[in-house]
Amino acid sequence: MPDKPWGGRFEERTSPRIEAYTSSLSEDARLLRFDVAGSIAHARMLGQQGLLKPEEAQRIEQGLRDVLRAFEQGQPFDPALEDVHMNVEAALTKHIGEPGKKLHTGRSRNDQVALDTRLVARERTLACAQACLDLHALLCAQAEHHVRDPMPGFTHLQRAMPVTLGHHLLARAAQLERDAQRFLASFDQANRSPLGAGALAGASLPLDRDLPAQLLGFDGLVEHSMDAVSDRDFLIQGVGSAAQCMVHVSGFAEELVLWATPEFGYFRLGDAVSTGSSLMPQKKNPDPLELMRAKAMRVQAALAALLGIASKLPLAYNRDLQEMKPLFLGAMDITEASVRALHEVLARSAFDPQRMAAALDDGATQATALAEHLVRSGVPFREAHEAVGRLVRTATGPLSALTQEDLARAHPALGSALPILQHRGPPASGTRGSPSDAERLLSVARAQHAELAEQLRLRQAKHAAVERLLTSP
Ligand code: ARG
Repeated sequence: MPDKPWGGRFEERTSPRIEAYTSSLSEDARLLRFDVAGSIAHARMLGQQGLLKPEEAQRIEQGLRDVLRAFEQGQPFDPALEDVHMNVEAALTKHIGEPGKKLHTGRSRNDQVALDTRLVARERTLACAQACLDLHALLCAQAEHHVRDPMPGFTHLQRAMPVTLGHHLLARAAQLERDAQRFLASFDQANRSPLGAGALAGASLPLDRDLPAQLLGFDGLVEHSMDAVSDRDFLIQGVGSAAQCMVHVSGFAEELVLWATPEFGYFRLGDAVSTGSSLMPQKKNPDPLELMRAKAMRVQAALAALLGIASKLPLAYNRDLQEMKPLFLGAMDITEASVRALHEVLARSAFDPQRMAAALDDGATQATALAEHLVRSGVPFREAHEAVGRLVRTATGPLSALTQEDLARAHPALGSALPILQHRGPPASGTRGSPSDAERLLSVARAQHAELAEQLRLRQAKHAAVERLLTSP
């Protein structure tokens, strides 16, 4: 069966149904550039090692660039050729003849697909880290803008203590810092070259594993050849980071959906980032935010599927690994798009600081401050808590309606606490959640942003090696 590179030991043609079933061509388009870059690096190494003549290596490298251009300009993959690796090699041989047949020297599709998958994982983790940092920058800017705007902080979704909107937004920013860190760590996990591992135990030819690793911007090698062809931990780590990031996106989206209801009224959805109802003319719906909650579940499902696939495999390569690629790519795409969509929603909507401030009017969120006033006059905290609790229970209206006499009756030391009860506006400085506290947190967040942006830039520079191989002869 000569139409397949592995056709030599086969008499019968593969069933078209099985050909379609085993094909990875649908997702392999995403690997094309990486596959060609990997082949260029491999060919240079073969040339350096004397396994190809210099002119053969050059012909292959040129031919690979032509083949890439042809596929990118619309030449279809041949479905009989299973995957991108066999398509590129076959197209190359068709294009340049004899030397093309030497490209696969010392290489297997097993180390080749591991390589391509690591390269696409680098690209996806960088894209997600960038999206997180961009959103982080927006949150810092919005936190700065709202650094003095008071609002209730919540526990159990019940009004708890006053904070500022800036303070609240910086908690969301802190989540994104960790997400960006995790994506960068996932990049590092992916960034080792499996090339030279061959099918599982290398080759008896004098290969140099270091040169292609260096040409492709890797930090080093996956040393063990069997590990190199079977390890997909980096995909699981990448999607683990994505799933964790989507927990944050989804939680934030949920909060904004609530805040956009007239019951809260804290968040005014921009027209450009909401949708209407085909029936009810008055509606403005937070559909993008709702989709973030649902899409987070898809990423979690991908993580569960990846763990499931990986946990049933004997060493070394098994075809099951092919199914991990679309799960990874799908999850990373959803995550990047969701972070960017959340960015868009926030950039094109507005918070309503007046509604937030009004939620403090009844004085309920000053209760803890009253108890702490008692503590400052020497009352044990348990007793103070009890006294203020009783005050809340027996008040016939909002706490804000209480007089100095009411306070003094609840506890003698509360007689002087009326200004505390009546305090509105942001929490006093020296208190957590105060504007000066938020300013301090903001400068910590911005320093962290600068550090992460630098870490991202270093990794982008490593990844740029791929495009260099594809463009410069
Ligand atoms: N399409 C395959 C994959 O994605 C490439 C490697 C095939 N290797 C093999 N021994 N059949 O995993």
